[in-house]
Amino acid sequence: MFYPIAQKVMFACDAEWSHNFALGSLKRLAHTPIAGLWRQNLPVKPVTVAGIRFDNPLGLAAGLDKNAECIDAFGQMGFGFLEVGTVTPKPQLGNDKPRIFRLPQSEAIINRMGFNNKGVDYLVQNVKNARYKGVLGINIGKNKDTPNEQGKDDYIHCMRKVYIHASYITVNISSPNTPGLRDLQFGNALLDLLLSVKNEQLDLQAKYDKYVPVFVKIAPDMDLIAVNQIAETLLKSKMDGVIATNTTLERSFVQGQRYANEAGGLSGLPVQAKSTEVLRQLRAAVGTDMPIIGVGGINDAASAQDKLAAGANLLQVYTGFIYRGPELIKQIVTSL
Ligand SMILES: Cc1cc2nc3c(=O)[nH]c(=O)nc-3n(C[C@H](O)[C@H](O)[C@H](O)COP(=O)(O)O)c2cc1C
Repeated sequence: MFYPIAQKVMFACDAEWSHNFALGSLKRLAHTPIAGLWRQNLPVKPVTVAGIRFDNPLGLAAGLDKNAECIDAFGQMGFGFLEVGTVTPKPQLGNDKPRIFRLPQSEAIINRMGFNNKGVDYLVQNVKNARYKGVLGINIGKNKDTPNEQGKDDYIHCMRKVYIHASYITVNISSPNTPGLRDLQFGNALLDLLLSVKNEQLDLQAKYDKYVPVFVKIAPDMDLIAVNQIAETLLKSKMDGVIATNTTLERSFVQGQRYANEAGGLSGLPVQAKSTEVLRQLRAAVGTDMPIIGVGGINDAASAQDKLAAGANLLQVYTGFIYRGPELIKQIVTSL
């Protein structure tokens, strides 16, 4: 009841303004009686993946709470886990506005935010201040002005900062909005990056006596050969899991709609089938053991089920949650 009204008001306003307004309200009100508007006590559907126990397999995808400012409020909604970030070593403003567009006819969003965030130190401080005790993934990236050849230094820097605060770490190499970032998904650049990440993870494990799994987040815009190559590199570098997928550059399903030709990544319903197909190919390529988080266009219990059937161990939502609100979490979790 609460979300349809809140959504109507927000959808009448600019997308980024609404986003900031919603996050600001969630942050301010999480520990007041008003949190009763979004709090949900959902049945526990436990799963253990990569050695982590999740209360249920549905998580919040990266990018909604980039600075980890609202983890208490999102935790109250009944997600089985939250992923915050993408965070970079230094704060950065991201691309010029406007940079988020709604395509309601397709329950979709196009964004070209460009990793706007307040930097890794600010995120860590927020995580330390939060009361949330659930599973927390921290998604890391590189600053826009760091050349790809030095990109791994940015990932390592963030790993060191977030390691003891994260249940798992996501290496994001699949945003379409940082020029050249997706090049890190292929060939020697990928192997080199992931071997460095693995080395660092093992060093940090020895230092803190704690093993924090590392997941790699990939794009949906690739053919079977590319998926197979990535899978081989993930196995070779002993990554703990993979997140499939980020947003797509493809526009075929939204042709003719307002904003369809805006630059950026398209998410929501139009990416659903494509990202499930990449997930299916990935599962075939990595075998049964490697954990996969399925994300892209989940907007009801059936689409969640499709991702699980294609080989996902865990699920995440972003755009479906914007269109359907906390009710979507309840619908999916109770259906499992
Ligand atoms: C506005 C917006 C910002 C996003 N920012 C990030 C980000 O910072 N890091 C990231 O890994 N994914 C980011 N994503 C991608 C989502 O996490 C997700 O992978 C993608 O949107 C597909 O899922 P969906 O169809 O449920 O939205 C963003 C998506 C949107 C719509």
